[in-house]
Amino acid sequence: MTSYGSASLRATPDDWLSIGEVSARTGAAVSALRFYEELGLIASDRDHRNQRRYPRHMLRRVALISVAKRIGIPLQDLQEAFADVPLDRPPSHQEWQRASRDWKRRLEERRQTIERLEAELTGCIGCGCLSMKACALLNPGDALAGDGVGPRRL
Ligand code: FES
Repeated sequence: MTSYGSASLRATPDDWLSIGEVSARTGAAVSALRFYEELGLIASDRDHRNQRRYPRHMLRRVALISVAKRIGIPLQDLQEAFADVPLDRPPSHQEWQRASRDWKRRLEERRQTIERLEAELTGCIGCGCLSMKACALLNPGDALAGDGVGPRRL
């Protein structure tokens, strides 16, 4: 958990949200928010009752996480994409721009992978041979070829 200091909690109570408020505003389940926090994707502090309080700028992160989940981006990729975006203060415009460029690059890589898999799958649906030699989908890049000839997993 990132510590923001209790002084700032007292000074600007309207800028801090409970886990329930973040959940209500973002649509993310409370359990999901706790999980994101465990992964370091978001951060909170504790109030005087030892309850989580999230700075308002975490809403943007949670929104981006929700979008990423919807389009199938693994949370690990998000950890990497958010690595240089500070948790302990509102990120600057430039910091979000850098993250955005990295995000765009990852999405492009993902799009290309999906297009390649789509082409391979379409061919395999029409083929059905399931050949370990010829089928790029079943044996991508002939992964075990370097281990020698014959069965490698028996
Ligand atoms: S099933 Fe025949 S090439 Fe994939």
